[in-house]
Amino acid sequence: MNSPNNPMPWRLEWSQELSVHIPEIDAEHKHFIELINALNEAIAERMSRSEVRKRMQDVMDDAVAHFEHEEALFIEWAYPDTEQHARQHAAAVKIFQEIMRRIEQSEIDYDWVEAGLQVKQLLVAHLLNEDMKYRDFWLAQNKVKNSVSQE
Ligand SMILES: [Fe+2]
Ligand SMILES: [Fe+2]
Repeated sequence: MNSPNNPMPWRLEWSQELSVHIPEIDAEHKHFIELINALNEAIAERMSRSEVRKRMQDVMDDAVAHFEHEEALFIEWAYPDTEQHARQHAAAVKIFQEIMRRIEQSEIDYDWVEAGLQVKQLLVAHLLNEDMKYRDFWLAQNKVKNSVSQE
Protein backbone atom coordinates (compact mmCIF):
# COMPACT_ATOMS: atom_id res chain seq x y z
CA MET A 1 0.00 0.00 0.00
CA ASN A 2 2.89 2.36 0.76
CA SER A 3 4.63 1.79 -2.55
CA PRO A 4 6.63 4.67 -4.02
CA ASN A 5 3.99 4.85 -6.75
CA ASN A 6 1.29 5.65 -4.26
CA PRO A 7 0.83 9.41 -4.38
CA MET A 8 -1.21 9.42 -1.16
CA PRO A 9 0.49 7.01 1.29
CA TRP A 10 -1.22 8.77 4.20
CA ARG A 11 -4.68 7.82 2.94
CA LEU A 12 -6.75 5.45 4.99
CA GLU A 13 -9.31 3.26 3.22
CA TRP A 14 -12.33 1.77 4.91
CA SER A 15 -12.52 -1.97 4.42
CA GLN A 16 -14.88 -4.74 5.39
CA GLU A 17 -12.58 -5.82 8.21
CA LEU A 18 -13.38 -2.52 9.92
CA SER A 19 -17.11 -3.23 9.79
CA VAL A 20 -18.97 -3.53 13.09
CA HIS A 21 -22.04 -4.84 11.19
CA ILE A 22 -24.18 -1.96 12.42
CA PRO A 23 -24.90 0.19 9.33
CA GLU A 24 -25.33 3.53 11.13
CA ILE A 25 -22.03 3.06 12.98
CA ASP A 26 -20.19 1.88 9.87
CA ALA A 27 -21.42 5.04 8.12
CA GLU A 28 -20.07 7.19 10.95
CA HIS A 29 -16.73 5.38 10.90
CA LYS A 30 -16.47 5.89 7.14
CA HIS A 31 -17.19 9.60 7.55
CA PHE A 32 -14.62 9.83 10.33
CA ILE A 33 -12.00 8.19 8.09
CA GLU A 34 -12.78 10.74 5.36
CA LEU A 35 -12.23 13.61 7.80
CA ILE A 36 -8.89 12.14 8.87
CA ASN A 37 -7.92 11.76 5.21
CA ALA A 38 -8.85 15.40 4.64
CA LEU A 39 -6.63 16.40 7.58
CA ASN A 40 -3.67 14.39 6.28
CA GLU A 41 -4.24 15.74 2.78
CA ALA A 42 -3.98 19.31 4.12
CA ILE A 43 -0.74 18.42 5.94
CA ALA A 44 0.78 16.53 2.99
CA GLU A 45 -0.07 19.36 0.59
CA ARG A 46 1.28 21.98 2.99
CA MET A 47 -1.94 23.91 3.23
CA SER A 48 -2.15 26.87 5.60
CA ARG A 49 -2.16 26.41 9.35
CA SER A 50 -5.73 27.73 9.51
CA GLU A 51 -6.87 25.06 7.03
CA VAL A 52 -5.06 22.27 8.92
CA ARG A 53 -6.51 23.61 12.15
CA LYS A 54 -10.03 23.68 10.70
CA ARG A 55 -9.74 20.09 9.48
CA MET A 56 -8.40 18.95 12.86
CA GLN A 57 -11.37 20.69 14.50
CA ASP A 58 -13.71 18.77 12.16
CA VAL A 59 -12.06 15.51 13.30
CA MET A 60 -12.49 16.48 16.95
CA ASP A 61 -16.13 17.58 16.61
CA ASP A 62 -16.99 14.42 14.73
CA ALA A 63 -15.17 12.23 17.26
CA VAL A 64 -17.07 13.75 20.18
CA ALA A 65 -20.45 13.27 18.47
CA HIS A 66 -19.57 9.72 17.40
CA PHE A 67 -18.31 8.73 20.84
CA GLU A 68 -21.51 10.07 22.43
CA HIS A 69 -23.57 8.06 19.97
CA GLU A 70 -21.68 4.86 20.74
CA GLU A 71 -22.01 5.41 24.47
CA ALA A 72 -25.77 6.00 24.13
CA LEU A 73 -26.06 2.68 22.26
CA PHE A 74 -24.04 0.91 24.96
CA ILE A 75 -26.54 2.04 27.59
CA GLU A 76 -29.41 0.86 25.39
CA TRP A 77 -27.71 -2.55 25.00
CA ALA A 78 -26.62 -2.75 28.66
CA TYR A 79 -23.12 -3.33 27.32
CA PRO A 80 -20.95 -4.50 30.25
CA ASP A 81 -17.76 -2.73 29.06
CA THR A 82 -19.40 0.69 28.75
CA GLU A 83 -17.23 2.38 31.36
CA GLN A 84 -13.95 1.00 30.09
CA HIS A 85 -14.87 1.97 26.52
CA ALA A 86 -15.97 5.47 27.58
CA ARG A 87 -12.58 5.92 29.29
CA GLN A 88 -10.88 5.09 25.99
CA HIS A 89 -13.05 7.70 24.26
CA ALA A 90 -12.13 10.32 26.86
CA ALA A 91 -8.43 9.46 26.47
CA ALA A 92 -8.71 9.80 22.68
CA VAL A 93 -10.34 13.24 23.00
CA LYS A 94 -7.47 14.34 25.27
CA ILE A 95 -4.90 13.17 22.74
CA PHE A 96 -6.77 15.01 19.97
CA GLN A 97 -6.63 18.19 22.07
CA GLU A 98 -2.87 17.77 22.55
CA ILE A 99 -2.45 17.23 18.83
CA MET A 100 -4.45 20.38 18.14
CA ARG A 101 -2.12 22.32 20.44
CA ARG A 102 0.87 20.96 18.53
CA ILE A 103 -0.65 22.04 15.25
CA GLU A 104 -1.26 25.49 16.68
CA GLN A 105 2.17 25.92 18.21
CA SER A 106 4.71 24.13 16.04
CA GLU A 107 6.40 25.72 13.05
CA ILE A 108 8.05 22.44 12.11
CA ASP A 109 6.51 20.57 9.18
CA TYR A 110 7.50 17.21 10.58
CA ASP A 111 5.51 17.86 13.75
CA TRP A 112 2.39 18.24 11.66
CA VAL A 113 3.08 15.09 9.66
CA GLU A 114 3.57 13.20 12.88
CA ALA A 115 0.40 14.70 14.35
CA GLY A 116 -1.65 13.63 11.33
CA LEU A 117 -0.26 10.11 11.50
CA GLN A 118 -0.98 9.91 15.20
CA VAL A 119 -4.64 10.80 14.62
CA LYS A 120 -4.86 8.09 11.97
CA GLN A 121 -3.17 5.45 14.12
CA LEU A 122 -5.32 6.29 17.10
CA LEU A 123 -8.50 5.80 15.10
CA VAL A 124 -7.38 2.50 13.58
CA ALA A 125 -6.25 1.16 16.96
CA HIS A 126 -9.51 2.20 18.61
CA LEU A 127 -11.59 0.63 15.85
CA LEU A 128 -9.70 -2.64 15.84
CA ASN A 129 -9.11 -3.01 19.58
CA GLU A 130 -12.13 -1.38 21.22
CA ASP A 131 -15.03 -1.08 18.77
CA MET A 132 -14.59 -4.70 17.70
CA LYS A 133 -15.35 -5.77 21.28
CA TYR A 134 -18.83 -4.28 21.17
CA ARG A 135 -19.35 -5.67 17.68
CA ASP A 136 -18.81 -9.17 19.08
CA PHE A 137 -21.10 -8.46 22.04
CA TRP A 138 -23.83 -6.99 19.82
CA LEU A 139 -23.66 -9.85 17.32
CA ALA A 140 -23.89 -12.43 20.11
CA GLN A 141 -26.87 -10.61 21.67
CA ASN A 142 -28.68 -10.42 18.38
CA LYS A 143 -28.15 -14.08 17.72
CA VAL A 144 -29.80 -14.83 21.07
CA LYS A 145 -32.70 -12.44 20.30
CA ASN A 146 -33.22 -13.92 16.84
CA SER A 147 -33.24 -17.48 18.12
CA VAL A 148 -35.73 -16.53 20.87
CA SER A 149 -38.06 -14.76 18.43
CA GLN A 150 -38.03 -17.78 16.12
CA GLU A 151 -39.29 -20.11 18.86
FE1 LIG B 1 -16.31 4.03 16.91
FE1 LIG C 1 -15.53 3.56 20.31
